[in-house]
Amino acid sequence: MDTQQSNARKEDSKTKEEDAAVDAELAKAIMSRSFHPSILGPEPWEGYIFSDLEIRIKESTDLYGAVLWPSAMVLCHFLETNHDEHNMMDKNVIELGAGTGLVSIVSSLLGAKVTSTDLPDVLGNLQYNVMRNTKGRCKYIPLVTELFWGQEVEQRFPRATHCFDYILAADVVYSHPYLEELMDTFDYLCQENTQILWAMRFRLDKENRFVDRFRQRFNLEELYNLPSLSIKLYRAWRRDERATTS
Ligand SMILES: C[S@@+](CC[C@H](N)C(=O)[O-])C[C@H]1O[C@@H](n2cnc3c(N)ncnc32)[C@H](O)[C@@H]1O
Repeated sequence: MDTQQSNARKEDSKTKEEDAAVDAELAKAIMSRSFHPSILGPEPWEGYIFSDLEIRIKESTDLYGAVLWPSAMVLCHFLETNHDEHNMMDKNVIELGAGTGLVSIVSSLLGAKVTSTDLPDVLGNLQYNVMRNTKGRCKYIPLVTELFWGQEVEQRFPRATHCFDYILAADVVYSHPYLEELMDTFDYLCQENTQILWAMRFRLDKENRFVDRFRQRFNLEELYNLPSLSIKLYRAWRRDERATTS
């Protein structure tokens, strides 16, 4: 190996070490947002600190959407620490697959007009968490409503009356049978000036293929890469100049 190659290798391993240090520090900052209550009352909850406020999330273990996934914390951390560039104040925001609602809650606390969506089974707990944590604390009361990806999306959200500045999504791509419908839902809701902020947990090959197909329809920018959590955060926006009315 000549000196040039040896220097290139040293540079490469230095960059990898630096990347690993950034990942570790960011992941630690994100995960430190959560805490367990010191005294457990009759109703269990998990605590999170965002916007200098305590957020109490009730989980239940029987459904995917009833558990809070780390991707939601990654997205919330980004929203809170990047509000100069992505200011939520007065923005129209929709969250897909909101689950226990942390992302909807944090974006409401940051001033957005939020539509928080998920499957019917999840809505009771979602509504409870959203109301419990936003009542009297937010400029706009968030709306919690059903959205089954790919089903009646046009009827529920006609483009003539619904134009979103942001589509937020955390951990919505995994091994479920509605990936195509999810893609179509992103596609329908994302208009010319809409930005998608999407935190993606990588588990299987199928998920990488979803990202590749997503890239064919949208411009994609990687905002965070956190290998220690197997999570990436993306910003996406439309590739084409499709008309925004229908
Ligand atoms: C892994 S959970 C993530 C929940 C939340 N975003 C978080 O990060 O904590 C996936 C969410 O997608 C929702 N979901 C799954 N399939 C769906 C579908 N076909 N239409 C709408 N939502 C769906 C689930 O109910 C669940 O809330």
